[in-house]
Amino acid sequence: MANKEILLKAKTTKNDEYLTLYEDISSEVSRFKSQLKGKNILCPCDWDESYDGELVFKEEGYVGPSTLFDKGGTIKNIDIKKSKKKVEKNLKHIKCNFIKFLVSHADDYKIKSISVSGYNPKNNKGVRFQDIDYSKYDLVITNPPFSQFRDFIEILIKNKMKFLVIGPLTALGNKITFSYIQANKMWLGYSSQLSGFKLPNGKRIMSKDKEGSIPRACKWYTNLDVSYRNDRMILTEKYSSKKYPKYFNYSGIEVSKTNEIPADYKGVMGVPVSFISKFNPKQFEIIGKSFQTQKKIRWEGDKAAFWIESKTHPKRKEFKINGKKYSLYAPFERILIKHKN
Ligand SMILES: C[S@@+](CC[C@H](N)C(=O)[O-])C[C@H]1O[C@@H](n2cnc3c(N)ncnc32)[C@H](O)[C@@H]1O
Repeated sequence: MANKEILLKAKTTKNDEYLTLYEDISSEVSRFKSQLKGKNILCPCDWDESYDGELVFKEEGYVGPSTLFDKGGTIKNIDIKKSKKKVEKNLKHIKCNFIKFLVSHADDYKIKSISVSGYNPKNNKGVRFQDIDYSKYDLVITNPPFSQFRDFIEILIKNKMKFLVIGPLTALGNKITFSYIQANKMWLGYSSQLSGFKLPNGKRIMSKDKEGSIPRACKWYTNLDVSYRNDRMILTEKYSSKKYPKYFNYSGIEVSKTNEIPADYKGVMGVPVSFISKFNPKQFEIIGKSFQTQKKIRWEGDKAAFWIESKTHPKRKEFKINGKKYSLYAPFERILIKHKN
C-alpha cells in the first residue's frame, strides 16, 4: 500500500494510537533545548493509562484525586520545582514517551511546567485538545491524532501557540496546512522522518522495515526557530532554457532537483516538495503548489498539474490539442517558488 493510502486508512478507521518512540522525541526535541527554557509546556494528546491508576504523580499531594480526568476535569500540571524528586522517583511508571522525556529533562532544560490533558477517547475522560484554554501555556509538544491533524494545527495557530508536533507528510499536500507553510506560520522541524512507532499491543513498526510506511511518512511541524531557515542555499547553477524547460501549461520552469535551483532566474520555478526542508524565507518566496495553480492550457485527459514537452522522456504521452500533436510528460507535484530580491 502506498504511503498516502496507509495514512488515509489510519484517518478513516480513526486508528490514532501510534505511540512515539523515545529516541525520536529525544533526537528532535533536544535540538530545541534553549527554546524550552522557562516555558509552560502542554502535552494535549498524551493520555497514558498510568494516570488513571494514579501511579505517577499522586504522592506530590498537589495533584488531584483519581477523578481528575473525569468529565472534562482539570488538566494535570507538573510543576517542576515542586515535584522534581517525586516525579523522578516514579518515572518508570510513565508510559507516554513525551512526558517521560520532558519530565526527565525538565531540570536540565529549565522547563517551568509540564501539563497533561489526559484525554482518553475510549471513555471520553480527560480534556480534548479542542476544549483546552491555551492561554495558560507557552508551548505545545505532542503527537496528535492523524485523523484530526488539520483541526489541531488550526486551533494552535488560532490561539497563537508555539508548537513542536508530529504530523503526516500529507499535511504538505493539504490546502489549509500548506497555506500555513506558505504564510510562514509553520515549517518543518529537523528529522526527515520518524524511526518508528509503537502500537498499543506493544508491536513496533520501524521505518527501516517494509511495513514502516507510516513512520516514514511523518514529519515534525513547528513554529519554533530552526537553523536552516537562516541558512542561504548556495546556488551554483545558471538558468538555461535547455536545462530548465518551461511548463507547457503554466508560466514557470521545471527544476527537478532542489540543489539545482538556478541562481539567476527571476520568474516562477517548480521545485520538488523536499525543498520545504531547506526553505529560507529570506531567500525565497513560496507562490503555491502545482496542484493549486491556474493552468493556461487544459484539454481532455489532462489530469496532471503540469506538463512538459519532450520527444525523449520515457514517460511521455502523445496528445492532440486543438488539432495539433504534442508529446508531453508530467513531473511530480511541485512547490512553486521565486527568488526574493
Ligand atoms: C498518535 S497518538 C500519540 C500518543 C502519544 N502522544 C504518543 O506520541 O505516544 C494520539 C493520541 O491522541 C489521543 N486523542 C484522540 N482524540 C483526541 C482529542 N480530541 N484530544 C486529545 N487527544 C486525543 C489518541 O487517543 C491518542 O492517544
